[in-house]
Amino acid sequence: MTSSRSSDARIEHVRRLQGVYRPPADKSISHRALILSAMAKGRSLITPVSRAADVASTAFCLRQLGVDIQEHEGSWIIQSPGLEGWVAPERALDCGNSGTTMRLLAGCLAQCAFTSILIGDESLSRRPMLRVAEPLRRMGAAVTLSAQKTAPIQIRGGSLTAISYELPVSSAQVKSAILLAGLAAAGGTVVIETNPSRDHTERMLNASGVDCHVEHPQRPAGDKRELLLAGLADDEAPVHRRTIRLGERRKVEPQEWTIPGDFSAAAFVIAAAIGARKAEVILDNVGLNPTRTGFLKVLKRMGADVEVKRQGEPGGEPFGQIRVTDCAQLKAVRVHENEIPSLIDELPILAVLSARAEGVTVIRGAAELRNKESDRIAAVAANLRSMGAKVAEVDDGWAIEGPTEWHGATIDPQGDHRIAMAFAVAALWADSPSTIQNVGVMSVSDPDFLSSLIALAH
Ligand code: S3P
Repeated sequence: MTSSRSSDARIEHVRRLQGVYRPPADKSISHRALILSAMAKGRSLITPVSRAADVASTAFCLRQLGVDIQEHEGSWIIQSPGLEGWVAPERALDCGNSGTTMRLLAGCLAQCAFTSILIGDESLSRRPMLRVAEPLRRMGAAVTLSAQKTAPIQIRGGSLTAISYELPVSSAQVKSAILLAGLAAAGGTVVIETNPSRDHTERMLNASGVDCHVEHPQRPAGDKRELLLAGLADDEAPVHRRTIRLGERRKVEPQEWTIPGDFSAAAFVIAAAIGARKAEVILDNVGLNPTRTGFLKVLKRMGADVEVKRQGEPGGEPFGQIRVTDCAQLKAVRVHENEIPSLIDELPILAVLSARAEGVTVIRGAAELRNKESDRIAAVAANLRSMGAKVAEVDDGWAIEGPTEWHGATIDPQGDHRIAMAFAVAALWADSPSTIQNVGVMSVSDPDFLSSLIALAH
């Protein structure tokens, strides 16, 4: 099996998955650790170094802005003049495939009194950027987009004014861009989310010495509350709101960051084990931030056997160990709109796994998937069908009827790392070999994914 960007991989049926898997450093947290370290004046340390191409894009852009980032014995050492000392980049800042790089850096650059241009690859250049341009313009930055409201993003920053902004779409990237810009704005920035997204930025700002206050949602009382917390409430249930406020202390201090393993990478291995004929896999050092682990709640409802042991919380980010075994009797479930943000990146693998469950799984309220690295709703449906699954595609999700007799197929990941990974897992369950095209795209989040997965196969 090879892994150059343009290569294909042939994957065969596997009878048993067994062993220990350590996911790579969390991608979302790594981006933020780099950016916060670059905003702080002084020396920061990040351990371990992420090998994701997306995170490399963030490091690459920050270096162009005058931040020194060196790798030493598995850590990054960051020496920064602080955001006030960033220099105008000589060329456009290339964010590659990484939406997080582009949107979070837009928030930082909105504070800088020079012009910068953020560009990306073909996929990133198709993704919507008005969602980040609009609030930054309201804060006072001059932001220009293409006619299609996509990248290139040209930003001329300067003195900003705080805004109070209710997010029209649930997006941690947009929320983070506003909060990062708000660090330099006059007044206290407020962001309101009606369907809370991952909260790494809030946790990490607090760990960096910033006063980032999260108001507890007004939770509904009684039974409704229990249902909501379990992600089981019906559609009419009040969706809980979160208000995030930046307080007086807004100076980012240098830190030593320890990055937990990426739950989103772990999710593929968890699913691979659940769907295998025989499996017992221990996942070590997995990030367990509750705004990321909605997948575990859904698995529980499906009847899967997943044990979670929390082990610590460095820098405000919990991590622990997960033990998972095969499950022959998965049940179909309904995934609710209010739980979508907590499993947004796990939806492709959840859709794949649900084709193994008895009954019709319905996943709705996930229209955002059409704006990811590919149109993930269409890409999952097309590839599932090619392997023999029964799937109906709707505007904001799927209905998937299982269980499926899986056949090997040629999978086109449509340039999307998570589609390639999800179907590499499906290929392990098929009765004949599959070909995953362009497996090199997996390097966007984990260049070692395929070899780690195959190492568990017996
Ligand atoms: C991310 C947020 C999510 C997620 C992406 C990483 C982040 O995107 O899908 O993979 O690190 O903030 P949105 O904020 O666009 O929902």
